[in-house]
Amino acid sequence: MTIQKIAYSVFVAFMASLFTLVSVNALSSSDPDDAADDDLDPITLEELAEHDGAESCWKAIHGRVYDVTDYVPDHPTEEDVVLEWCGREATEGWDNKRPGVPHSPRAEGLLEAYLIGRLVDEEGEPVEAATEDTDTVAERLSPAEDERLHRAMLGLPLDGRYRGVFIDRGVIQVNITFDLEDGHFTGLAYRHLAYRDDDYLAMEEGDDLYPVLVQYRQILERLEGQPVTAIFALYEPERVVDDVDGYTGATLRGAKVISAIRDALNRGVYAWP
Ligand code: HEM
Repeated sequence: MTIQKIAYSVFVAFMASLFTLVSVNALSSSDPDDAADDDLDPITLEELAEHDGAESCWKAIHGRVYDVTDYVPDHPTEEDVVLEWCGREATEGWDNKRPGVPHSPRAEGLLEAYLIGRLVDEEGEPVEAATEDTDTVAERLSPAEDERLHRAMLGLPLDGRYRGVFIDRGVIQVNITFDLEDGHFTGLAYRHLAYRDDDYLAMEEGDDLYPVLVQYRQILERLEGQPVTAIFALYEPERVVDDVDGYTGATLRGAKVISAIRDALNRGVYAWP
C-alpha cells in the first residue's frame, strides 16, 4: 500500500466518524420531551382553573400540567406558599422558589410523578409559560438595588453611611463618619480624634490644643455638601482652614482626613440610608 492510499483511507475513516458524530448529535439535540408531549392529554386554562385549591390542585409548569394535590401536604413550606399557585400557570413560582432560585433537580424528579397533561389554548395549541423570560437580574432587583448596581458599574460612590479611620499605632486616631447623598457629603463628623493622650473632642476653648480641633472641624465644614472629589482641596490647606501655620500643621491634618475618608470609601457602605 502506498503512502497516498494509507493517507486516503485515514481521511475517509476520519470523515465517516465525523459524520457519525454530527448525526448522533443532531438526533440527540432534538428534545425527546417535545415529541412525548403530543401524547399527553390536552388541558385548557379553563379546566386548569377549576383545580385551584387543596382539595384538587393542578399547576401548569413549563407547558405541562401536574396534579400535585397529594404532594401539597408534603411540601417543605407552609401550604399557602404552594396553594396560591393552584389552578394556574405556576412556572414563575416553580422557577423562583426564592427570587431567582429554581427548584432542585430532585424536585424536578418528584414533579414528574404528578404529570397529567399539557397546557393548550382554546384552539388546542400549546401554551407557552408567559413568565419564562422574567427571570433576569434587572427584574429581580429592587429600584434601590438597581441604582446601586449602576453606580457601582460606573465607578461612582454609592449613597449610604460610611466610616473610616486614619490610625498610627494608637498614637494618632482620626475616625470619621459621613453620609453620601447623590455622591455629596452630608453629616460629616469625627467619632474619635486623638493624638497620644490628647482627646481633641474633649477639649474646650482656652485649651492649648483647642485651635487644632477648630482646624479639624473647619476641614469638615468645608467638605459638607460637596462632592467626594472635594477632598483633594485638603491637600492645599490654605483653601480650607483660616489659620495655617507651623504650630497647627494644617497640611498634615488635611492628609489624615483625606486618608480616613478614602479608607471609608474603600471599606464600602457601612449602612444603607
Ligand atoms: C409553584 C409553586 C411552588 C412554590 C412557590 C414553591 C416554593 C418553594 C419554597 C419556598 C421552598 C423552600 C425554600 C427552598 O428550599 O429553598 C420549596 C422547596 C421545595 N419544593 Fe417547592 N414550591 C412550589 C411547588 C412545588 C412542587 C409542585 C413541588 C413538587 C412536586 C415542589 C417541591 C419542592 C421540593 C422537593 C423542595 C425542597 C428544595 C428543592 O428540592 O428545591 N415545590 N418550594
